[in-house]
Amino acid sequence: MSSGARGRFIVFEGGDGSGKSTAAAAVAARLEAAGQRVVLTREPGGTPAGEAIRALLHHRLSPWAELFAFLAARAELVSTVIRPALEGGATVICDRFAPSTFAYQVHARGLDPVVVRTANRAAAGGLEPDLVVYLDIDPAAGLARKAGEGPAVATGQEGLEFHRKVREGYLLQARDDPARWAVIDASLPAERVAELALERVLRALR
Ligand code: TYD
Repeated sequence: MSSGARGRFIVFEGGDGSGKSTAAAAVAARLEAAGQRVVLTREPGGTPAGEAIRALLHHRLSPWAELFAFLAARAELVSTVIRPALEGGATVICDRFAPSTFAYQVHARGLDPVVVRTANRAAAGGLEPDLVVYLDIDPAAGLARKAGEGPAVATGQEGLEFHRKVREGYLLQARDDPARWAVIDASLPAERVAELALERVLRALR
């Protein structure tokens, strides 16, 4: 256990092809260059078991099976990577977290929000982000950016209508929690997106 303060938990979110993984990596590199201890991880994945679950998610699963696969990966990541890093005082940057579940499984797939909230709270051990950096993009543009990429998690292969709902699900969450959510226009050049994201992260770390 560290005697220092708990680290901050920053989550990057966005629709498929929003460029959030690039922005999250750029912000992590800038913080590290400034001497901060940073753990950059992703969902689904981030642990050997989580990466195996990601491979499972390439199958099109039934909606509840899909939910619990994402939550299994989350439970493993929180308990073995995120929680220990935060307790050690590191800043944790996670590429996707619970807001993805509410956008994709609840808003787009239509699963019961009350059940999902309870199951997610159990999987995440009650952990919530200090800041959510949401990269907002027109889903048609996002999907076009991803076209031609290799095999993807099944949610990424859904059509435009699904991804429109995902965006709506994100914007509703951002509207409901404006203090914790930073919405960034992901159609801007990647360097500008990373700059804006860094500004918001630095403010949250103060
Ligand atoms: P990935 O290939 O990592 O896409 P991206 O680079 O856009 O993050 O695939 C992750 C997919 O999993 C993406 O379509 C969003 C989806 N997802 C959910 O549906 N629910 C979740 O809880 C999480 C974490 C991800």
